[in-house]
Amino acid sequence: MKLAPQGGSGMDEASSDAGREKAEEIEMAQNGGKRNMDKLSHTSVLLRECVEALNIRPDGVYVDGTLGMGGHSLEIARRLDRGGRLIAIDRDRRAIEAAGERLAEYRDRVTLVHGNFRDLSMILDEQGVEKADGMLFDLGVSSPQLDDPERGFSYMADAPLDMRMDVSESLTAWFVVNKWPEERLRQILYSYGEERYAPRIAAAIVRRREQAPIDTTLELAEVIRDAMPAAGRREKQHPAKRSFQAIRIAVNDELGAVSQLMEEAADRLRPGGRLAVVCFHSLESRIVKNAIAARENGCTCPPEFPVCVCGFRPTLKTVGRKPVFPSEAEVEANPRARSAVLRVAERV
Ligand SMILES: C[S@@+](CC[C@H](N)C(=O)[O-])C[C@H]1O[C@@H](n2cnc3c(N)ncnc32)[C@H](O)[C@@H]1O
Ligand SMILES: [Zn+2]
Repeated sequence: MKLAPQGGSGMDEASSDAGREKAEEIEMAQNGGKRNMDKLSHTSVLLRECVEALNIRPDGVYVDGTLGMGGHSLEIARRLDRGGRLIAIDRDRRAIEAAGERLAEYRDRVTLVHGNFRDLSMILDEQGVEKADGMLFDLGVSSPQLDDPERGFSYMADAPLDMRMDVSESLTAWFVVNKWPEERLRQILYSYGEERYAPRIAAAIVRRREQAPIDTTLELAEVIRDAMPAAGRREKQHPAKRSFQAIRIAVNDELGAVSQLMEEAADRLRPGGRLAVVCFHSLESRIVKNAIAARENGCTCPPEFPVCVCGFRPTLKTVGRKPVFPSEAEVEANPRARSAVLRVAERV
């Protein structure tokens, strides 16, 4: 896969110059759209459900905040006409490149933005969009990120400890593993990884790094495995899985980004516009659920009050009685869909 240019801080091009209004419309290659796709493929999770949830109007303005390999974006773009617009964001420049090729035929209606969805408001301001008709966020990492051994997300292939979705950011997995205090490591392993052996693993990492830095994914995986009791090592999943997830979430501040996004998203939707979020683990799912609930029923008046006097005005309304889970057939075909859950809310 072609390497994306590195350096710059995510929003550099988009934010620098209002005159270059379309400057962030990264050149979409005209040819060879399929070239990269075969090697590093990514099956979009809950594709039909997400697209249906957005209630797409052909002339509407939509945001895909997690472009990835562009599977969802492609389906959105297909449903737009020339009057419609899709702003597709990813913090990973390689995703922008690869998906850009895939979306080339819709370049007249797609704007690619290298940036973090936590800056949603700023991105929309720069794009001259006040309110969108729908927004989709398919959280977490993509298969190409996980599967590309060079990027250091995987405990199965040896690589420098990196795990940055945006390689222009400075915090790497190496820094977390080798420099963060033991207490902080223990905390992230517990809360982001739900790793019950967090204290033993954090202690083992610190013991090991006192001798020499832990430089690679496989070194780290070995330290983790050795720190686990025999019962932990016998579990079906790889002993390092939960710890790697925790470190990845910390490196990319994934929960901070989702929290900030949920603060801003409703304000940038038109009434009737839909917000669709696919979560893959319980912490982000809780953040999304609570943020919607707070905007749906955030009235703080005592229950005996006949009318609301606290001034609360709902801005979101949950769509559907329950969140949407992938079908068994989808999970069978794409095991990464197993933990997915889609929540949809509508701007009121
Ligand atoms: C699960 S993949 C999305 C897959 C995509 N929906 C598709 O159909 O191909 C998640 C993508 O979101 C990006 N991402 C994760 N957190 C982000 C954030 N805070 N801001 C922007 N992009 C983010 C990742 O780099 C990754 O490419
Ligand atoms: Zn009230």
